[in-house]
Amino acid sequence: MRAGSKYIHAGTEPDPSTGAIMTPIYQTSTYVQSAPGQHKGYEYARSQNPTRKALEDALAVIENGKYGLAFSSGVAATDAVIKLLAPGDEVIAGNDMYGGTYRLFTKVFEKFGIKFHYVDMHDLANIENAVNANTKLIWTETPTNPLINITDIEAVAAISKKHNALLCVDNTFASPYLQNPLDLGADIVMHSSTKYLGGHSDVIQGALVMNDADLREKLYFIQKSCGAVPGPMDCFLVLRGIKTLHVRMQRHCENGEKIAHFLRNHAAVAHVYWCGFEDHPGYAIAKKQMRGFGGMMSFTLKDDSAKNATRVLSSTHLFALAESLGGVESLINHPASMTHASIPREERIKNGLTDSLIRLSVGIEDVEDLIEDLNKAIG
Ligand SMILES: Cc1ncc(COP(=O)(O)O)c(C=O)c1O
Repeated sequence: MRAGSKYIHAGTEPDPSTGAIMTPIYQTSTYVQSAPGQHKGYEYARSQNPTRKALEDALAVIENGKYGLAFSSGVAATDAVIKLLAPGDEVIAGNDMYGGTYRLFTKVFEKFGIKFHYVDMHDLANIENAVNANTKLIWTETPTNPLINITDIEAVAAISKKHNALLCVDNTFASPYLQNPLDLGADIVMHSSTKYLGGHSDVIQGALVMNDADLREKLYFIQKSCGAVPGPMDCFLVLRGIKTLHVRMQRHCENGEKIAHFLRNHAAVAHVYWCGFEDHPGYAIAKKQMRGFGGMMSFTLKDDSAKNATRVLSSTHLFALAESLGGVESLINHPASMTHASIPREERIKNGLTDSLIRLSVGIEDVEDLIEDLNKAIG
């Protein structure tokens, strides 16, 4: 199946009991057994739920993987991956990524004896230099949140294979419509399904997709043992979101391109971070591994003060000032005080995330309205 048909039909069959075309929301905590141990494959809803099963099958299909697992949030999915490790194990992660991932690594897992190295993944030598006998996982986000840096997934997969480490790619910003990391050699794809997969800013959820059966068993064991499972209503919402992923992403990409160029030509804008510009340092790799450049971007102002950034952030009307991204409506965000506030300031600034950086999640409204809104706010 081609992408569009895949997104609409992935994982879903008409309900066998009624023929309902939409997967029912199985709002149940348990399942009746005819005799001890005799059941229809469903025992207790933390371990199995039919709505979640339909979603997990769909996640596998859209990421070209064999197995999908859904979690109660994106960070819960990340948490499950790190729980594959043991004290003494080491992780190499990008130095530019979602602040909540950084917080989970530094504030939760470091104290359990897992060591994290943060490197600029644009230069592969930095990854090679950080590898040692304890390296068990390479974690990368591409494009990154919020600086839209690009990592060469195929090249990093070659490094991880050489050193018997797993490679997990956070594919939240690209979505499966633009990029499929498993096809490029990654072992696990992670999503904050809260974002483009759900697509309507009405659900918090996470996902993992993989090909290896043993890895699936380990991650399923963590999912049911730790219990960060999504409810059936939320699974239904993400299943519904996936059905329009391709249509929404096409518009996110079209609007994103127009807004990135508008910002770049604006007299008050200093720098625009968007991977579709030919002079973006990751452009060639993005072109190779992505099918479009998406609607996520960040920018700085020539009057590079937090005060000026605050003025712009508080002056838009269509772009809502809010955390999150990937919904149909456009959002504007101040990473330093919002999504990335958990990263210490020196660390942020060292990696280019300045106090005045503004991040946009370009929605699917009429682009002329979005441009007018930004133009008035930037002044
Ligand atoms: C790139 C990325 N990864 C992971 C997450 C965490 O996902 P969630 O908020 O669903 O827990 C986010 C949230 O913003 C994100 O942007």
